[in-house]
Amino acid sequence: MTKIAVLVSGGGTNLQALIDAQKENKLGGGEITLVISSAAGVYALERAEKAGIKAITIARKDYTDLSDFDSAIESSLSENKIDLVVLAGFLSVLGAKVLKTFKDKIINVHPSLIPAFCGKGFYGLKVHKEVIKSGVKVTGATVHFVNEIVDGGKIILQKALDVLPDDTPETLQQRVMKEGEWVLLPKAVAMFCKGEIV
Ligand code: GAR
Repeated sequence: MTKIAVLVSGGGTNLQALIDAQKENKLGGGEITLVISSAAGVYALERAEKAGIKAITIARKDYTDLSDFDSAIESSLSENKIDLVVLAGFLSVLGAKVLKTFKDKIINVHPSLIPAFCGKGFYGLKVHKEVIKSGVKVTGATVHFVNEIVDGGKIILQKALDVLPDDTPETLQQRVMKEGEWVLLPKAVAMFCKGEIV
């Protein structure tokens, strides 16, 4: 069984998509055994607790040095014998320790078609604001492996979606989540757990 940790920072709708997929036996035999939040009191923690999943907070703001924050996360993942780390709306950057210990075992969901609208500073609603501002007619969602380059690891799955003339950043974000992220992320996790991607 692949032990999965999901790292979150906010509302946790992508975490919920994973929990729902697990309930329907659609995670390829993987099991979410740990949720780590980089911020206290976020709704993602409640979602985990409701699903009976161990949930802890390792708050980024409690650490001045990234390397100490990184060590705390690495220790927790290692102590819990995690096989796959899923970043689901995790808005802090991971450090060298986690990236080394979990090399090729970390995946992230991003709300655009990488390599467009990604990298440092592109997260959450900001991505959709920039998409609308630029006038592009197509956007989407991407699931990719995580390496030391922000949003720069190998792409696993992508889904393209139209930007509609009357879209606001909020309506676009909703559509990208519902039709893109919440579909792609559980699918990519299942593929990893079944050994279909390495
Ligand atoms: C999601 O849209 C996710 O793709 C994005 O933050 C949102 C979190 O929502 N992540 C990034 O922008 C990372 N660069 P959620 O907490 O409801 O899953």
